Amino acid sequence: MPQNIIRKMLEAKLQRDLTYSSGKILCSMCTNPHSFAKQIYRKYLEKNLGDPGLFPASAELEQETIHMLGSLLSNPEASGSIVSGGTEANIIALWIARNLAKKDCGEVIVPVSAHYSFDKASDLLNLKLIKVNLNHHFQMDVKAAEKAITPRTVAIVGVAGTTGLGVVDPMRELSEIALAHNIYLHVDAAFGGFVLPFLKELGYNALDFDFRLPRVCSITIDPHKMGLAPIPSGGILFRNASLTEAVSTRVPYLAGGEAEQSTLLGTRSGASAVAVWALLRHLGRAGYRAVVEHCLMLTWKLVKEIKRIDGLDIVTEPTLNVVGIKSDRIDIRLIFQELRKRGWAVSLFPGFIRIVIMPHTKPSHIRNLLEDLKRIL
Ligand SMILES: Cc1ncc(COP(=O)(O)O)c(C=O)c1O
Repeated sequence: MPQNIIRKMLEAKLQRDLTYSSGKILCSMCTNPHSFAKQIYRKYLEKNLGDPGLFPASAELEQETIHMLGSLLSNPEASGSIVSGGTEANIIALWIARNLAKKDCGEVIVPVSAHYSFDKASDLLNLKLIKVNLNHHFQMDVKAAEKAITPRTVAIVGVAGTTGLGVVDPMRELSEIALAHNIYLHVDAAFGGFVLPFLKELGYNALDFDFRLPRVCSITIDPHKMGLAPIPSGGILFRNASLTEAVSTRVPYLAGGEAEQSTLLGTRSGASAVAVWALLRHLGRAGYRAVVEHCLMLTWKLVKEIKRIDGLDIVTEPTLNVVGIKSDRIDIRLIFQELRKRGWAVSLFPGFIRIVIMPHTKPSHIRNLLEDLKRIL
């Protein structure tokens, strides 16, 4: 078929997809990638990090990207990989923790608020997830986490920016108990990793969550969420390179010559790593701080307005650009259904509606949502 006909067909077929610019997507943790990152990504599509002998310069850029992300997370010496997303990053972290622990019937302690990628990881890795309850700030209950430790525990996971409410678990205390019991500690900062480092500078409260805490062994941080990078771009960072040896596989036959792999995927996108490298250089700390400032300004505007609407309230004061909306008067599922009918892409969690204010969110989007909420009530 001629290309122009196929293009037309695609345009027609893909029309049903929502767009970030429509202002209706208020629950995605991804956003329209930065235009510079898109250009770079398109230019280097052929690069394959699964064969670093063929693409040694791309492999070097990947490591430079990891060092830049490491600097953001207080450890420029960090090692790791640009992966397909938070799910792969979390799976690799638990894979390493399991192999290092060499324990039969291993267990992993996570908060009940942990992302479902840990359910997938535990199934794949034959690990039992021990889900710990939250305290009244919706953070992992540290005492309950410590109580859950057994001789079979291979890792504790804390979340720095939960999927539902953007809450940060008490990572300092988790680091202390993991250190005391000599247990691997993984931090899932897939969403929060590009937000938390800027909170203090912007005058918001910030909790420690990164490699500054002595027992943090690995961190998930996703450039394709608040990092504004094209999908797929995830990040898994380790305190030091020796940790990755636990899953390292030697691949002898590669076109570029024998190489070690410590990711889940074989063939993997070099364009992602190069685009993240370019975007980190282009935006720098000041650029990302401005992105976070925009999102948090709108977040607090939304919070203020929600509190003014009779019958609605927020679940908890937000730490990040994620807001939970609840109602003590009306079943929140009905409000959710009405929002959906009006074309709003918002998420329903048990007992609340989640709003994620992303770089694509504009003040008018929030105003329109608030108007619809008032009408629905
Ligand atoms: C905290 C957290 N971890 C991990 C993930 C999984 O990331 P991905 O969808 O990129 O696999 C998400 C996704 O929203 C998340 O919120």
